[in-house]
This record gives sequence, structure tokens and C-alpha cells, in this order.
Amino acid sequence: MHKDIKEILFTEDAIKKRVGELGTQITRDYAGTRPLLIGVLKGSFIFLADLVRRIEQSCEIRFVSASSYGFSSVSAGSVKIGQEIDFQMEDRDIILIEDILDTGVTLSALRDFVAEYKPSSLKICAMLDKPSHREVEITADYLGFECPDDFIVGYGLDYAERYRNFPYIASLKPEVYS
Ligand code: IMP
Ligand code: MG
Repeated sequence: MHKDIKEILFTEDAIKKRVGELGTQITRDYAGTRPLLIGVLKGSFIFLADLVRRIEQSCEIRFVSASSYGFSSVSAGSVKIGQEIDFQMEDRDIILIEDILDTGVTLSALRDFVAEYKPSSLKICAMLDKPSHREVEITADYLGFECPDDFIVGYGLDYAERYRNFPYIASLKPEVYS
């Protein structure tokens, strides 16, 4: 275990098992369709890569980057979308893939933004949920794990761009970020 880690919350094996279960669920729910999975960069890149390999039908994969800006002139409320949307979202079955639902601000803004494009369905899949931090009402349709009110890193999640590559999901020692 790395010296900056306080506690490993979910091991590589536990993650693998849970991601497999989510893949099975999505495969079943989207039978006969070709879902469009949109990963929210950068945190979701590992989760998305693992998840799509556990979905047993062809799906389309796209990415958007979203960052919270207190005030922004961009259309997605308080969240800035990092690029032009150059793919069709209208009439698609869309699943937004996120690393963690914390305050919920990012994903609820992104959800509203995508909904404007009139997809036929729109669901949210998050690897982690920190429900104690929620500021806006939003829940994941597909969820990996609930996690405690700690700063979480690993499996795509970073602190100052570090620790994303750790294969487990862990809490960071408070002295590292305070
Ligand atoms: P929100 O507060 O739900 O809008 O979360 C926005 C983003 O903050 C997430 O997509 C993550 O990238 C990041 N984030 C929130 N909590 C954590 C954490 O505990 N560790 C690492 N990143 C986090
Ligand atoms: Mg993120």
C-alpha cells in the first residue's frame, strides 16, 4: 500500500466483481439496443474501460470533459463542457459514466445538458457515491459502491492528478490534502 493511503476501501478483486455485475445488468437492460456510453473525463476512464468489456453487446463510446465552474457562460449551468459535441445524441439510449457522485453538481448539470438533445433514454452510471455530500438531487441508476465521506483516490480518481493509476479505491491520508 502506498504511504499516502489511509485505507483501501475496495480491492482490485472487489472492483472487478462489482464491475462485472454492473456489466451484466446493463447487458440485460439494454438487450436489443446499441447504447451510447458517454464517459466523463478524466476520472471515469478506467471504470469505463473495464465496464464496456463486461457489456455483451455492441455499444458506442464517447467522452466529454466536464468541470465545475462557479459561474460560467456555457450552456450546462454551472458546469463547463470541454468540447464540441460532434456526435448524435438525439434518439439514442445514453448512459453517462462517472467516477464519483459527490455534490452531484457536475452530473446533474451534464444530465440536463444531454437531455436537451432529446435522447430516447438517459441513465447515470457511477462507480462511487458519497451520498453524505449531496447538494443537488441526483441518484445513479447503476452504482458500484457507496463510499465514506473521505477524499477518495485510485481506479481513475485523482488528487492533483496523482494516484489515478492505483488499481484499488482508497481514502487518502488527510495530511496529504490539507
Ligand atoms: P460533484 O461534486 O458530484 O460535482 O463531483 C465532481 C467531480 O469531483 C467528480 O467527478 C470527481 O472528479 C471529483 N471528486 C469528487 N469527490 C472526489 C473524491 O473523493 N476524490 C477524487 N475526486 C473527487
Ligand atoms: Mg471527474
